[in-house]
Amino acid sequence: MSELPASTTGAGAPAPSDRNSLTIGPDGPILLHDVHFLEQMAHFNREKTIERQPHAKGSGAFGVFETTEDVSAYTKAALFQPGAKTDMLARFSTVAGEQGSPDTWRDVRGFSLKFYTDEGNYDLVGNNTPIFFVRDPMKFPHFIRSQKRLPASGLRDNHMQWDFWTNNPESAHQVTYLMGERGLPRTWRHMNGYGSHTYMWINARGEKFWVKYHFHTQQGMKFFSNDEASAMSGTDADFHRRDLFEAIERGEHPSWILSVQVMPYEDAKTYRINPFDLTKTWPHADYPLIRVGTMTLNRNPENFFAEIEQAAFSPGNTVPGIGLSPDKMLLGRAFAYNDAQRNRIGANFHQLPVNQPKVKVNSYMFDGPMAYHHSGAAPVYATNSGGRPWADDTGPVDDGWEADGAMVRSAYTPRSNDDDFTQPGILVREVFDEAQRAALVNQVAGSLLGGVREPVLSRAFQYWKNVDADVGARIEEKVRAGSASRPAEGMGEG
Ligand code: HEM
Repeated sequence: MSELPASTTGAGAPAPSDRNSLTIGPDGPILLHDVHFLEQMAHFNREKTIERQPHAKGSGAFGVFETTEDVSAYTKAALFQPGAKTDMLARFSTVAGEQGSPDTWRDVRGFSLKFYTDEGNYDLVGNNTPIFFVRDPMKFPHFIRSQKRLPASGLRDNHMQWDFWTNNPESAHQVTYLMGERGLPRTWRHMNGYGSHTYMWINARGEKFWVKYHFHTQQGMKFFSNDEASAMSGTDADFHRRDLFEAIERGEHPSWILSVQVMPYEDAKTYRINPFDLTKTWPHADYPLIRVGTMTLNRNPENFFAEIEQAAFSPGNTVPGIGLSPDKMLLGRAFAYNDAQRNRIGANFHQLPVNQPKVKVNSYMFDGPMAYHHSGAAPVYATNSGGRPWADDTGPVDDGWEADGAMVRSAYTPRSNDDDFTQPGILVREVFDEAQRAALVNQVAGSLLGGVREPVLSRAFQYWKNVDADVGARIEEKVRAGSASRPAEGMGEG
């Protein structure tokens, strides 16, 4: 007898053997009634869930968010009241790569947060950049497909990526970030996070504000060069996952300071930039950062699959005092995530421990596969006469906004200062220094040399000339001379 406790079947009975199947004689055929063997084989065939469609490769950790400042003038949300400490989960990810793809391929990084608040779970599902590639959710599946793989060969393809980007010039701002150093963060600990969208905050008096979230890393921003990132892709595909896990194991708990930009509700109607356009930032001179608190990650998952792979984040998970906004992308996302999770994990994904709120749930979602939590014999319908409470708000909602007009399919109404190239131009000329501009030129030219054909190539030169005439000319010159160093990695994104 082994000294270790014997294993059991799924039903808890002693398992006969985890080494030998049941056969007729040592060399004979396996018997169909070896139930333990069949159970092992059958469960093995089902031990993966579908990977996330975008953002498949990632990892995360648990921690705490502490509100150190008083922002109660802007929101009544319990987690943002002075002194509140809220348990939370963070997951970081690449966008386009599949499970197992290298952490250090050039890409935007996901920055997903789940706060287990006293008023239910609040999720903020952002990226390490403050803006995005497109501004209408209708384009999102097309965008992601263009960054993933060709239908015939199953290969990533620079031509396809640039074809999409140059046909959708609103991508220029985010592509500039992606081709700059933020496309290659050294670790997840050394990058900033952003809510990216504009959200609504509502205070106790019912006053509304528009906010943008900025999480600034307290470890400092650090990046990889192309060569370092390529080498790391080959030697340790899980470098970012390992770095976070090992840092927390060592007791080094990474932290980020949350600040918000706050725009008075009425300003949005006349601001020169559409504040709900996800391809734009708000200049800090107009709306300065206001500090809120600190997020610290201090506990590793005990089980990657249960606590990270099955974690379900959704921008639709808001709490009182926080709302969505007229950003069409955000409104599209409010549907997409929970739907993906019903498919990826199952209809009752919210019952898994990592997704459960810490508050009592009284939901009329009923039964379904793997249902565990239930309301016993209480009525399963509302309204009912059995004493089970149901919600009954009527009239204007406190996180709403005015909307009127004929039904249309259209871009946003233009504002005076919201073309696609002004902000990326400022980024390239005023935020990047010459070394960063040279790296950008080399990165873009290298990527264009990776199989991008006409007419996309000429469109790409014009796209960059629209961002900045000089940078565009330098990119064209390098490509025509064939002289950029080709980045080895799949440089796409999502
Ligand atoms: C209409 C636009 C978008 C749609 C339809 C969409 C859809 C999705 C879907 C279906 C998933 C997988 C969810 C899951 O299986 O759990 C996902 C993951 C993710 N998306 Fe989006 N997305 C959109 C835009 C964005 C934007 C603008 C951002 C960032 C600002 C973003 C950040 C993320 C992140 C970080 C994840 C990973 C979530 C996790 O860690 O589990 N997405 N997206």
